[in-house]
Amino acid sequence: MDGNGRWAQLRARPRVEGHREGSRAVRRIVRSARRLGLRALTLYAFSEQNWARPEEEVDTLMLLLRDFLLSERDELLDNGIRLNAVGNLARLPGVVRAVLDPLRRDSESSSEMTLTLALSYGGREEIATAARELAADVASGKIKPEDVTERALHGRMPSLRVGDPDLVIRTGGERRISNFLLYGLAYAELHFADVLWPDFAEADLYAAVASYQSRERRFGLVGKPAVPSDGAPVLRLVG
Ligand code: IPE
Ligand code: MG
Repeated sequence: MDGNGRWAQLRARPRVEGHREGSRAVRRIVRSARRLGLRALTLYAFSEQNWARPEEEVDTLMLLLRDFLLSERDELLDNGIRLNAVGNLARLPGVVRAVLDPLRRDSESSSEMTLTLALSYGGREEIATAARELAADVASGKIKPEDVTERALHGRMPSLRVGDPDLVIRTGGERRISNFLLYGLAYAELHFADVLWPDFAEADLYAAVASYQSRERRFGLVGKPAVPSDGAPVLRLVG
């Protein structure tokens, strides 16, 4: 979710106003994703690197996160949405943990969609943590060095518990990954939207999904040429 700061800058307003508008976009897109029938949505809300931003901006982002969790709690529970979080959660302030932890617990059995917030998250950090855990298991004799496989690493990545990402959408016009889901991205389809995150609308999500549906995914294998029968990708609505 990129482009909050530029959204505010374009209107000669402080960056935090862009984040406020960005949190409205989060509410909108979570609802759209649920309507579309997506089974999992992972939002890169705050990176491990974002802590180095000005204190006022970090504080505002944390308060917006808390407000989001408070105001969406009932709707998430009513709509069968499981709320999860991945990243270095120990770094989050107590005011966030105080609403995040109970919601994670209370929505544990919800199964319509999993909404994962990547908070204080870094893809490299996640890989390093998984490697460290496996190294500890080797050191204690629980597993052998040859057990440190691609699958074993995968199994230690909290962000991939919902499965590998099929589609990654980056808003804001940049063409880079910025330390998101690195290990899981191996065969993800990438979609770059030039719209700034606060302006990202349901139609933009549909456009991204339609683009995804027009791709031929080969996973390194040999496939048939991808020509949709009528030339147009079909967007199937669920629910
Ligand atoms: C939102 O956009 C990203 C978050 C950390 C929430 P930015 O704050 O990176 O916006 P730009 O890139 O400065 O426009
Ligand atoms: Mg940015």
